Amino acid sequence: MEKKKEELLTLAIESSCDETSAAVLRGGREILANIISTQIPIHQKFGGVVPEIASRKHIVNIMPVIDECLRTAGVELKDIDQVAVTYGPGLVGALLVGVSAAKSLAFSLGKPLIGVNHLEGHIFANFLAAPDLEPPFMALVVSGGHTALVDVQGYNRFRMMGQTRDDAAGEAFDKIARVMGLPYPGGPRIDALAKEGNPLAIDFPQALTEKGNYEFSFSGLKSAVLNYINSEKMKGHELNKADIAASFQRSVIEVLVGKAFQAVKEAGRDTLVLAGGVAANSGLEARLREEAEKQGVRFLYPDKILCTDNAAMIGCRGYYQALDGGYSDLYLNAVPGLSLTDK
Ligand code: KG4
Ligand code: ZN
Repeated sequence: MEKKKEELLTLAIESSCDETSAAVLRGGREILANIISTQIPIHQKFGGVVPEIASRKHIVNIMPVIDECLRTAGVELKDIDQVAVTYGPGLVGALLVGVSAAKSLAFSLGKPLIGVNHLEGHIFANFLAAPDLEPPFMALVVSGGHTALVDVQGYNRFRMMGQTRDDAAGEAFDKIARVMGLPYPGGPRIDALAKEGNPLAIDFPQALTEKGNYEFSFSGLKSAVLNYINSEKMKGHELNKADIAASFQRSVIEVLVGKAFQAVKEAGRDTLVLAGGVAANSGLEARLREEAEKQGVRFLYPDKILCTDNAAMIGCRGYYQALDGGYSDLYLNAVPGLSLTDK
């Protein structure tokens, strides 16, 4: 007898950047295990992710992480009904490790393979966090590699409202932190420092703020902060890092919040969800919540562990994609520049 869809066990694998992760989900939203092995301490001494080292560590970690995941979930490989894996965007060598593992498992088990877009995975983390969430809603995706506003019209229907023309929000956080001598990843450090600083101390620019423009640009802001730091150093002034962090973070947040609520309004949505690693930013979350209350919009964001890279979100996306026939064949390849497009 065929299993009911709520009973389907999905094994999911994520290895797009510096986290090796495997998860087992029952149905679309029940996490049986979500094991994440982070490489952050390894890359920290280089000030950022070193792609070649990341690939090698994924190779070492992938099978132990999958084993631990199955053990934690209390299931065996033969119980798995389908295998979901991130195939892009991300670092090509890193992605290939997960994709190869997933293809081998799907082939040897004779079970379907589902190639998942990492960015869609970040959005779907919200279904895990909020069991009653249903489309349509607006999603603000802010990660180390991407910044985008996506109108989620159905489980398999997305409209891209706008994305960044240059740097992603997380990338800007990481670069500014690096210049200030803070360790990788800089986002959480800036977040913590900003709490001690004055967000109005320095007037950093906010780009593309015209009404109806949903594109983002953070490279001008990044240059403005770097110029400010250099000129302070040249004048022999001691840097007020907390004020710089708070003022920079304010500029990023105001742009994100302004555009997100405009998009919610334009699309006629009543719910806004936050996704991606930068969703862990306490200042962003607080401002979005405040604005949502003012505007009567439901605002959701996942727990920290589901905000940053993890395989559970990939399993959730894979499950809903498969319900619509979104399977892959065994020729699935890594696509480092995969984008999130309208479907
Ligand atoms: O989604 P993610 O884990 O990886 C990508 O898919 O890119 O996001 C990582 C990014 C990094 O740039 C990191 O600095 C940023 O998320 N991040 C934060 C915070 N925590 C993580 N940025 C700002 N504030 C935070 N609390
Ligand atoms: Zn990510």
